[in-house]
Amino acid sequence: MKLFFRLASKHMPNFTLQKATIANWETIEQIEKTSNRKLYAPRIDKAEILHDITNNFIYFIVVENKKIGFISYIVEADGNIEFNGLVILPEFQGQGIAKATFEQVLEMTNAKHYSLFVHPENEAALKIYTDAGFTIQSRLENHFGDGEPRLFMTLAHTLA
Ligand SMILES: CC(C)(COP(=O)(O)OP(=O)(O)OC[C@H]1O[C@@H](n2cnc3c(N)ncnc32)[C@H](O)[C@@H]1OP(=O)(O)O)[C@@H](O)C(=O)NCCC(=O)NCCS
Repeated sequence: MKLFFRLASKHMPNFTLQKATIANWETIEQIEKTSNRKLYAPRIDKAEILHDITNNFIYFIVVENKKIGFISYIVEADGNIEFNGLVILPEFQGQGIAKATFEQVLEMTNAKHYSLFVHPENEAALKIYTDAGFTIQSRLENHFGDGEPRLFMTLAHTLA
């Protein structure tokens, strides 16, 4: 019985990625608002969201025409890609969607270096990043000014 439930809960719906535009800023805000404030620093105002839609890459994760989350990153001058958002609406969590999205974006971007910051108690996010090969470089006690610690993680693809 247990095995049945585990397999059933692992059934992942099909999803597509759709680039966000400034017309979507309120949807980003709504999705951000559902996240846990201790483990994740959400984008909190319109100006910040509009700035990030324009200057970052933000992709909605779409299931059956519903925007159920997003992933975001910035391409830095040296080509490093820094992830700065991965959120799934609570009712769609635990189905493997974040992990599959993250893996898809790594494949799609195919950069040599990646980085991100994650709260050390954010177990689901840490699992996704370590499974993708990211390793912890350092711990910063108040990186986002929210009084919470973050781990700085990186992934480097080296030529074999
Ligand atoms: C982090 C987040 C995106 C994960 O989304 P999700 O779709 O539920 O994640 P997945 O279903 O792909 O699960 C990823 C892994 O974490 C594991 N996991 C999920 N919740 C967990 C928990 N509470 N504790 C431990 N592991 C957990 C899953 O079992 C899975 O591991 P597996 O592939 O070995 O089975 C989601 O929890 C979220 O939106 N959180 C709020 C925003 C946030 O914190 N984002 C991270 C920014 S760094």
